[in-house]
Amino acid sequence: MSYDDFPPLKNDLLLRAARGDQIERAPVWVMRQAGRYLPEFRKVREDHEFFEICRTPELATEITLQPIRRYAGLIDAAIIFSDILVIPQAFGMEVLMTPGPTFPNPLETPTDVAKLSGKVDVDKELGYVFEALKMTRQKLEGQVPLIGFCGAPWTLMAYMIEGGSSKTLQKSKTWLFKYPEESKALLKRIADVCVDFLVGQVKAGAQLLQVFDSNAGDLSPHDFETFSVPTLRQISTGVRDRLTELGVPRVPLTIFAKGASPAIAARCGYDTVGLDWTEDPRDVAKTLDMDACLQGNLDPVVLYGGRDAIEREVKRMCAAFRSARGGVTRGWIANLGHGITPGVDPEDLKWFFECVHKYSANA
Ligand code: CP3
Repeated sequence: MSYDDFPPLKNDLLLRAARGDQIERAPVWVMRQAGRYLPEFRKVREDHEFFEICRTPELATEITLQPIRRYAGLIDAAIIFSDILVIPQAFGMEVLMTPGPTFPNPLETPTDVAKLSGKVDVDKELGYVFEALKMTRQKLEGQVPLIGFCGAPWTLMAYMIEGGSSKTLQKSKTWLFKYPEESKALLKRIADVCVDFLVGQVKAGAQLLQVFDSNAGDLSPHDFETFSVPTLRQISTGVRDRLTELGVPRVPLTIFAKGASPAIAARCGYDTVGLDWTEDPRDVAKTLDMDACLQGNLDPVVLYGGRDAIEREVKRMCAAFRSARGGVTRGWIANLGHGITPGVDPEDLKWFFECVHKYSANA
């Protein structure tokens, strides 16, 4: 079984958009599309723990396919059901979902780094993700492309030190200022694993890769440049070089550095730059190389505003992204500006997809 032994792709809109081609309309998917807002997801969760699902390829495949089935013909990508925190687990850290992520033994000082596994074998530790990708590619039958992903080193380091989600990231940011060299060494070790993990995902069938730097916005532009950017570059160049060595065709890479400057993120060597809802794509496009594709960026809370608000805001978003590209739909993947939240009515998400189809179409 190799990366191309799968049913042929019938809808390649996402891949064409990431390449910057002019497209008939914007491809659309949403972050966390396989998640708690779906009753069919909650049903599976009644009987299975979160990480049990991640580690069981049949369950991860089933959940990845849930939004594809429900929104058939409206949704243009699947994203493998997993979590960014599987990398800290691969380093030997315990992570629970209770209900948010919790690390019973977070890293407290740089001496704790010695407790992490010295060499992470991704086939051994994360082979279950590769199995889930292979199974999902088979079951998708080429309906839409399959996205693989990982967390960015800075975001993962922050979780490993904070021991869970945090509003201020005081502990992990303290490391950056108090132990800058040890922090850089840890970030680089995490990035090495990210490269192996992403390359393994492509070999297992991922057709586009997204790196989530969800905590990027907590850093000043200077600290984002100093600590995160070098490892984001290490990942983009490392993945590309390894895929070239393996003779695997180029796979588009997306960086979603939430809250960080898109202009800085765009210099990290990715094909697509994800925007959160605080960015205006017209302003962003002026600061970027026109060739970087953009992804985003509806405020996820608009999905609670009712049908009229959803239509009005999607129409506005489509006009803004077209205007950013000189009046055509090109170089844009429609998405939310962050993950969909648990209280959304699945029918309202369906309306979001329908509105994107309608208002992003090129004449
Ligand atoms: O997008 C998808 O549908 C693929 C699956 C996916 C999940 N997490 C499933 C999930 C992806 C891509 C992620 C990424 C992820 N995980 C990120 C980066 C994206 C972002 O949101 O910023 C982060 C920071 C995490 C860590 C994480 N996992 C958190 C903070 C939480 C709790 C979220 C909350 O709202 O309480 C999770 C849990 C999680 N990951 C759920 C899902 C569907 C919900 C868990 C449940 O079923 O109880």
